[in-house]
Amino acid sequence: MLLHIPRVLLPQETTTFRQALEQSSDWVDGRETVGAQGAQVKQNQQLAESSALREQLGQRIQQALLANPLFFAAALPLRILPPRFNRYQGGETYGMHIDGAVMRMDSNQHLRSDLSCTLFFNDPDSYDGGELVVADTYGEHEVKLPAGDLILYPSSSLHEVRPVSKGARLASFFWVQSMVRNDANRRTLFEMDTAITTLTQSGADRDAILKLTGVYHNLLRQWAET
Ligand code: NI
Repeated sequence: MLLHIPRVLLPQETTTFRQALEQSSDWVDGRETVGAQGAQVKQNQQLAESSALREQLGQRIQQALLANPLFFAAALPLRILPPRFNRYQGGETYGMHIDGAVMRMDSNQHLRSDLSCTLFFNDPDSYDGGELVVADTYGEHEVKLPAGDLILYPSSSLHEVRPVSKGARLASFFWVQSMVRNDANRRTLFEMDTAITTLTQSGADRDAILKLTGVYHNLLRQWAET
């Protein structure tokens, strides 16, 4: 499931973040954090792992995500890798690849990448190219979102970032290990959650909503790993 989550950051904060990223001198070659498979097709810049700005902005993004009901319902996050930041300009691109399945969070903890996230910082009209293309069983999907918006997609998908031929594309990217490993199960829970919210808002029968809510939690109990 590809899910567009609007307004993870509000416009003013998005602008502040973008300006801080534009002015930073912490940019390094993006191949710093990629394995041999990715290194062959990755041409971009990334904020250094040691950058204080990366840590500061990353923490704020994590806060915003955990306060976002749509993100929470769709991702059911167990762990989130500290967000990283990248920049594409002057024809830079990241060809088709698949993200690593297991990532190191710190010296004694790992994260299984169930979901990949990209948070956009530039207005789509301000640069040419730079579409995120995600390939799944239904074909290829092109994603280029407004500044402050996020796309959530399964880490099991092949994907690429098309060359940025004019302007610059700044984004944050990170991975989520979900409490629910299986993508189809997670989607079922998300759809049920969305339907229960709609029924509640429309004033539908309370006993029926209560039973459905019980089914949601009992499925989550069967499928969740914590
Ligand atoms: Ni990737």
